[in-house]
Amino acid sequence: MILITGATGNIGRELIPLLLESGQSIRVLVRDESKVAYLDACVERAVGDLDKPETLVAAVKGIEQIFLVTYETRQDVNVIEAAKKAGVRQIVKLSTLEATEHKIKVGKWHYEREELIRAAGFDWTFLRPGMFMSNSIQWWADSIKKQGSVFFPGGKKGKVAPIDLREVAEVAALALTQAGHSGQAYTLTGSELFTIGEMVQVISQVFGKPIQYVNIPPIAAKLFMLKSGMDKALVNALMEMLASLRKNEGAIVTDTFQSLTGHPPRTFEAWCREHMEAFRA
Ligand SMILES: NC(=O)c1ccc[n+]([C@@H]2O[C@H](COP(=O)([O-])OP(=O)(O)OC[C@H]3O[C@@H](n4cnc5c(N)ncnc54)[C@H](OP(=O)(O)O)[C@@H]3O)[C@@H](O)[C@H]2O)c1
Repeated sequence: MILITGATGNIGRELIPLLLESGQSIRVLVRDESKVAYLDACVERAVGDLDKPETLVAAVKGIEQIFLVTYETRQDVNVIEAAKKAGVRQIVKLSTLEATEHKIKVGKWHYEREELIRAAGFDWTFLRPGMFMSNSIQWWADSIKKQGSVFFPGGKKGKVAPIDLREVAEVAALALTQAGHSGQAYTLTGSELFTIGEMVQVISQVFGKPIQYVNIPPIAAKLFMLKSGMDKALVNALMEMLASLRKNEGAIVTDTFQSLTGHPPRTFEAWCREHMEAFRA
């Protein structure tokens, strides 16, 4: 049986149907069971919290493999300890592209967690995706709807190769269901590099309306995030990531997705066509 953490989140939600289609038995770890009421009754539910080790004992009982999504190193430690006791064989961890270089905090944090899993002796696979295409909804849809603009400190030159969540989930499903992925760290990106301005241009073209990209000063973005109640350490880490983007340090394209799945990743334009409603007022 496979335990899926982050089951209500970006990748977890996409992974569940893929595993069910391939006939896997799955259990989801959720803090609030009502969020997965839509799932088929064959999916086992474990109510628990990654921050509360005592809730993980029952969640990992009888589990062979874990898809792991965490936010803090302590959460990985909690899962590792429970998983070791329960005899879990494999952990497929959602990491990040930045773990490859681990120069900035987000990368360092994920790298540190990867190392803990490696050292604990599980079969491991690390997924290191770049920016999710869907971040454009989370970050920009509101201001596109209200002001026809994107306000973002993305600079003018730094590029990224955004990837569709479904493709990260597809690789997670392969790692959990096929042999040959143990001991692998996969850097997953889309196939096209864009500046933030170019991403906004693609949205605008697909939308059929002008959308302005306003390259705001980083301090303005920082104050906005702090004012909206985001955790200070997370805001600082995000600011560091954005600085790295502006310096063009995230301009990485790999063909890992295609070589693992045999088909190319979706283009950002194709993704925008499927998600246009999210940007419409
Ligand atoms: N966004 C990107 O571009 C990107 C790129 C590369 C890597 N990543 C990495 O991907 C990971 C996921 O990030 P995301 O933004 O996509 O988040 P997400 O998976 O959409 O959402 C977080 C998930 O974790 C669950 N969760 C949070 N705290 C929990 C806790 N204490 N106990 C149990 N479950 C908990 C949430 O459940 P609830 O429903 O209970 O809240 C939700 O299912 C992060 O490690 C991030 O660094 C993100």
